[in-house]
Amino acid sequence: MIKACIFDMDGVIVDSAKYHYMSWQRLSKHLGFEFSEAQNEMLKGISRMNSLEIVLENAGISLPYEEKVLLCEMKNGWFNEYIDTMTSDEILPGVLDFISDLKHNNIKIALGSASRNANKILTKIGMLEMFDAIVDGTHVEKAKPNPEVFLLGAKLLDVAPQHCVVFEDAQSGVEAAIAGNMKCVGIGTEDILGKANFCISSFEGLNFAILQNKLKE
Ligand code: BG6
Ligand code: MG
Repeated sequence: MIKACIFDMDGVIVDSAKYHYMSWQRLSKHLGFEFSEAQNEMLKGISRMNSLEIVLENAGISLPYEEKVLLCEMKNGWFNEYIDTMTSDEILPGVLDFISDLKHNNIKIALGSASRNANKILTKIGMLEMFDAIVDGTHVEKAKPNPEVFLLGAKLLDVAPQHCVVFEDAQSGVEAAIAGNMKCVGIGTEDILGKANFCISSFEGLNFAILQNKLKE
């Protein structure tokens, strides 16, 4: 029985994953190496510092912590330039209709994101007041695939994990949902998100009744 839905943010409710990709690409160029889309896939859902460490490791670079902090600030500065002009136009197709259908069915909703920019992005796109609970990168210690972010969301909603469905576009996020004993819908393709209960390419056409049926299959 589904009582709550927990949404990742970047790449699930808003088209901001592309800005993370552009910012990491810009940082890689600044450091003098290439950064591919396949490498970017491994960063989805991963915290800022952990992402930088993966980027540097792939390029065979090792740096002291203080320099890594500066590079994180540089990447986040560029990311913030991109999100500064964000509007509700960048909410992904079908998201608002799906959330409205969940509310009609008395399903609680939470955000479960690794982002430390969640408040700013949700404000920009006019969705800050929509969630019954918001858990982001400023509230958790353990990054996805640890389930902490989703378990805290479920706790704030007062719903047991087995009654929650997580919506995720990142491999690490799908693993976090499973580790938290929750159902998971992948936003993307099965080759990457195959561990999810099922995958969709977008929320368009999805409603609560269809979700329930698909999860029973
Ligand atoms: C996740 C993104 O939602 O948030 C990652 O998928 C990103 O790519 C992480 O690194 C942290 O985001 P931010 O905005 O705090 O750097
Ligand atoms: Mg994401």
